[in-house]
Amino acid sequence: MTSASSRVAGLFDRSADTYDDVGVEWFRPIARGLVDELAPQAGERVLDVGCGRGAATAPLARAVGASGHVLGIDLSARMVELTAADLADLPQVEIRLADASDPALPAASFDVVASSLVVFFLPDPAVALRAWTDLLVSGGRLGVSTFGRQDERWESFDEVFTPYLPPQMLDARTSGARGPFASDEGVEDLLRGAGLRGVRTEHRTVEAVFRDTEQYLTFTWSHGQRAMWEAVPDGARGAVREQLVALARDLGGGGPLTLTQDVRYTLGARA
Ligand SMILES: C[S@@+](CC[C@H](N)C(=O)[O-])C[C@H]1O[C@@H](n2cnc3c(N)ncnc32)[C@H](O)[C@@H]1O
Repeated sequence: MTSASSRVAGLFDRSADTYDDVGVEWFRPIARGLVDELAPQAGERVLDVGCGRGAATAPLARAVGASGHVLGIDLSARMVELTAADLADLPQVEIRLADASDPALPAASFDVVASSLVVFFLPDPAVALRAWTDLLVSGGRLGVSTFGRQDERWESFDEVFTPYLPPQMLDARTSGARGPFASDEGVEDLLRGAGLRGVRTEHRTVEAVFRDTEQYLTFTWSHGQRAMWEAVPDGARGAVREQLVALARDLGGGGPLTLTQDVRYTLGARA
């Protein structure tokens, strides 16, 4: 594993216990949109790349039914352990530790490859997408979800962390200002470059509602944003927290907070 990969694996190992489990609907509705777009059928074989806590794996398993098969792979051993336990009663599901960049699976062995909010973590997304395309049968479908336009009202929350972030974390692949993940065309080009046909983009809006500031703060530690907190020295975390609390008060007036996120689904099929 490269040092970048072990950093990502460590981040998600530390997030896994509370990931998608803080009472906020976020990863599941995003993944459900991807599953809807891919429309898996009973009996199909599906690969869920970077399955995390199963936000896509579970609806994929329901769609393919007992005659199908869903393999979820993830780089984080803790994600794999917890998700395998969560989905143990679904015999069509298997969860395995594997690297999305080189999954080492047989060519042409899946009808569908799904990957929700993962591809921007990979050191070379183009190489990974080519590898995933090789895993599809002819006519098989591939879909990835990434973040579209951000909720402008929340930009100042992210900016609180900016002074502490190392340069590579300022790469806006996940949030949209530059790089292939900044536009529909950028992600479509990645899929076309992997040899996929009929590439298209769909968008949906997902809304997270935080009942109060504490729930929002707990949420920020429970997923990839944890990396931003971990970049802040211990002695400065209190001040960062105070700034976030003040911004939340301005935004929500002490009541619930709503974060609206545009989600991009990029889809294609193997010739
Ligand atoms: C934002 S989470 C998304 C998880 C899940 N797909 C969801 O929608 O909730 C990103 C996931 O990708 C995994 N991941 C990151 N890099 C990976 C890699 N190279 N190979 C496999 N999984 C990876 C992380 O461990 C984490 O579980």
